[in-house]
Amino acid sequence: MSITNDIESVLVSEEELRKKVRELAAQLARDYEGKNPFFVGVLKGCFVFMADIMRDIDFYCDIDFMAVSSYGDQTTSTGAVKITKDLNRDIEGRHVVIIEDILDSGRTLSYLKKYLMNRKPASIRICTLLDKPSRRKAEIEAEYVGFSIEDAFVVGYGLDYAERYRNLPFIGILKPEYCKQTSED
Ligand code: IMP
Ligand code: MG
Repeated sequence: MSITNDIESVLVSEEELRKKVRELAAQLARDYEGKNPFFVGVLKGCFVFMADIMRDIDFYCDIDFMAVSSYGDQTTSTGAVKITKDLNRDIEGRHVVIIEDILDSGRTLSYLKKYLMNRKPASIRICTLLDKPSRRKAEIEAEYVGFSIEDAFVVGYGLDYAERYRNLPFIGILKPEYCKQTSED
């Protein structure tokens, strides 16, 4: 049975994603072409977005990945995250662009940005496909945003619920019976 049956509604269709990814790539080209930027994807959620946007980019750049996981209780105010995979190359003096699937409370990216700042890059900006500004807990904004969305839990195009649905080609909202949200946050 198709996993699409678990979806209540499509929030962003494949066509809308394609168009928006091209627009974001054009913005990045305008700002970074000739600057040899260093793109950092945050695993695992970024993998589909990153693969698509990188193929719309036609200039020299580095591509690398980091993986992070929250330290136990996600509601702690420190928002400390554990780095489970770090970069393989030095970013000192480089223009870094973090590529994320979604900016929610902002704790992950706020931590990651400070963490990478210590390595003295020339600059750091954030490119996120989705943004939920109403959920923000940490003081952080993305310079490049695909879609600003309401507070709904979404899956697909890299985003998961309990590690499922990352492989859906669109972004959708799950039927309530498939997503038993915890009271977290
Ligand atoms: P933040 O630290 O709260 O901004 O967390 C961002 C991370 O939470 C993202 O990288 C996702 O892994 C996860 N996340 C937040 N909202 C959603 C959602 O609606 N669907 C799937 N994952 C989400
Ligand atoms: Mg996740």
